[in-house]
Amino acid sequence: MDFALTEEQTLVRDMAREFATKELLPRATRHDRDGKLDAALFPMMAELGLWGLTVPEEYGGTALGNLALAIVLEELNWACAATGVTVSVHNSLMCAPLVKFGSDEQKSTWLPKLASGEVIGAYSLSEASSGSDAASLRASAELDGGEWVLNGTKLWVTTGNEAGLFLVYVRTDSEAPNARGISAFLVPRDTPGFSIGKSEKKTGLRGSSTTELILENVRLPESTILGEVNRGFPIAMDTLDGGRIGIGAQSVGIGRACLDASIKYSNEREQFQRPIGHFQAIQWKLADMSSRLDAARLMVRRAAWLRDRREPCNREAAQAKLLASTTANYCADECLQIHGGAGYTDDFHVERLFRDARITEIYEGATDIQRIVIARSLLKA
Ligand code: CAA
Repeated sequence: MDFALTEEQTLVRDMAREFATKELLPRATRHDRDGKLDAALFPMMAELGLWGLTVPEEYGGTALGNLALAIVLEELNWACAATGVTVSVHNSLMCAPLVKFGSDEQKSTWLPKLASGEVIGAYSLSEASSGSDAASLRASAELDGGEWVLNGTKLWVTTGNEAGLFLVYVRTDSEAPNARGISAFLVPRDTPGFSIGKSEKKTGLRGSSTTELILENVRLPESTILGEVNRGFPIAMDTLDGGRIGIGAQSVGIGRACLDASIKYSNEREQFQRPIGHFQAIQWKLADMSSRLDAARLMVRRAAWLRDRREPCNREAAQAKLLASTTANYCADECLQIHGGAGYTDDFHVERLFRDARITEIYEGATDIQRIVIARSLLKA
């Protein structure tokens, strides 16, 4: 077993780390306060190939794969989780399923635009009444004159305000059991009847938009369905196996930012005539944060490595997300505690890390859902 990164992975990590340090970190507080990302970042990320990490070279991507994506995402999220989730969703929840399940026409139409960052991708599964129970979704499509007509309202769409292409899951067979009557549609933003609804005002991750999608008689040809009609739910689940690795990597990045801030403050802050890092109570916190983060990073990378080998990674991705997201929240909590009252103000970015970490236990399958996925896999093994 070799834990070392390859030369290519080392290069991509260093590139992402430099970009995160120079370009993202100085903007992260502004993203949080403005409620949007600086548009100047999008072409910069295109220049670095960050929009096409899961796209084959023939379509303009870098095809570096899921492990490289996880490595990049840790670096981006260390600096700015709002930017990190945008890159994660685009690569894992739009490009990856399009590569895996798309027709030649769908791939040649969209992948070059996605890989270059000309079009940003978003994924839309959830609705007001279907979150954890994703298969109970109600937005629907009916055939009319050879076209599908979509109606309904989707919710919790990450990057809704910026995306140009949406992977939207709707019910195409109302008679079939829940998971057997859903199809995945590729919906361009400018399709008549398709609009973006309200943007959520969130506790954290404020620089990343989270919106409603409104479908009002959106007419689409059959050729916009990804994969087979009524077989969209397994695509949604397979896609989330990849997405959960991305959120695991995001969690490790946020957690590492918490550890770095804690180490710095522990060396600088003096109480009782010495730096607080001299106290064992603080040392134990740092040791536990570091150990848990290392374990989470290894699990994230193992799941990504399996996915790159096209081996099943459903349980491993859920385990990685479960451990990494709970670790991110543990680190954020301890980091704020080490900073004391100062950490509770917006003079330090620690309070943003605390708010940003929270979502990692909720989206792309809440912590309890990861436990269901893991337990089901154990019980059927
Ligand atoms: N890969 C491929 N197929 C899979 C699969 C996987 N990992 N998991 C399940 N399937 C297939 C099953 O084989 C089954 O197929 P058949 O119909 O052929 O038998 C079908 O999908 C239904 O599977 P289940 O019976 O297991 O489905 P379920 O209704 O019991 O749901 C669940 C299982 C795990 C709870 C699922 O609903 C789930 O993951 N819920 C959480 C939803 C979620 O993560 N939402 C995230 C929204 S996106 C987001 O958050 C993005 C963002 O903002 C950043």
